[in-house]
Amino acid sequence: MNLSQKYRPTSFDGILGQEDIIHILRNQVVKKRIGSSYLFLGPSGSGKTTLARVLAMAVNCGKPAKGNPCGKCDSCRAILKGQTYDVIELDIGSYRGIDSIKRIEMTTKFMPFGEKKVYILDEVHALTSPAWDATLKMLEDCGDYILFILCASDDDIPAVARSRCQEFTLQCLEPKMIAQKLSIINQKERFGLDQNSLRFIAEFAQGNMRSAEMMLAQVINLNHGQPKPKQIRKFLQTRMAEI
Ligand SMILES: Nc1ncnc2c1ncn2[C@@H]1O[C@H](COP(=O)(O)OP(=O)(O)OP(=O)(O)O)[C@@H](O)[C@H]1O
Ligand SMILES: [Mg+2]
Ligand SMILES: [Zn+2]
Repeated sequence: MNLSQKYRPTSFDGILGQEDIIHILRNQVVKKRIGSSYLFLGPSGSGKTTLARVLAMAVNCGKPAKGNPCGKCDSCRAILKGQTYDVIELDIGSYRGIDSIKRIEMTTKFMPFGEKKVYILDEVHALTSPAWDATLKMLEDCGDYILFILCASDDDIPAVARSRCQEFTLQCLEPKMIAQKLSIINQKERFGLDQNSLRFIAEFAQGNMRSAEMMLAQVINLNHGQPKPKQIRKFLQTRMAEI
């Protein structure tokens, strides 16, 4: 498991930045005002897929605390392990065509075990045009036990789709926030990097938390696992020059 997966937040509390969005979603969970379709836009590594998974868990949680999924009830545990049909995640980047939409549409007839049946359509901008038509029809016709969460890192989304969803645009993360999370990982994993090195990485990541976590995993292995700040800076500069 890489650092990004290991440290992917599993509650609203763990998601950095995106304050207004988190505030609204948390409140919707608490007040049971969940909509039927959401669209999460924003740059890569800002937390779209993470947020979709947290929301899916929150709406089904038996004991949410301040809107956060508890992570411990039967529903949360099943979702975390990927052992439930109540949350279905489809990577549209790999399955772009109408067939994949038809296949999931068939399953929308079946009621969830818990509160909501959630479909996360990740990288939804990659849908083909006929697949978009099928998706829009599905969004219109579904029962109120269904929740659709569409995520896209490209905002080339048909206007008709946008108008059917509650749209939220995530922002790229401030270097300060990235450094804050890197610092926690650094401590937990006992990597022993100094704060300056963590700040370099946070700057180089250009707002993308996943990139920062990937860079961290690389630099800790410089110099037999005892990297010096200078070596880290040199490595990152070379890495940037190659992009
Ligand atoms: N706002 C955030 N707070 C804390 N960690 C984050 C945040 N955003 C991203 N991460 C970290 O980065 C990893 C990737 O995040 P995620 O998959 O949610 O990004 P994304 O916006 O869906 O990116 P992409 O457009 O590339 O799919 C997560 O596993 C998590 O470790
Ligand atoms: Mg994603
Ligand atoms: Zn729970």
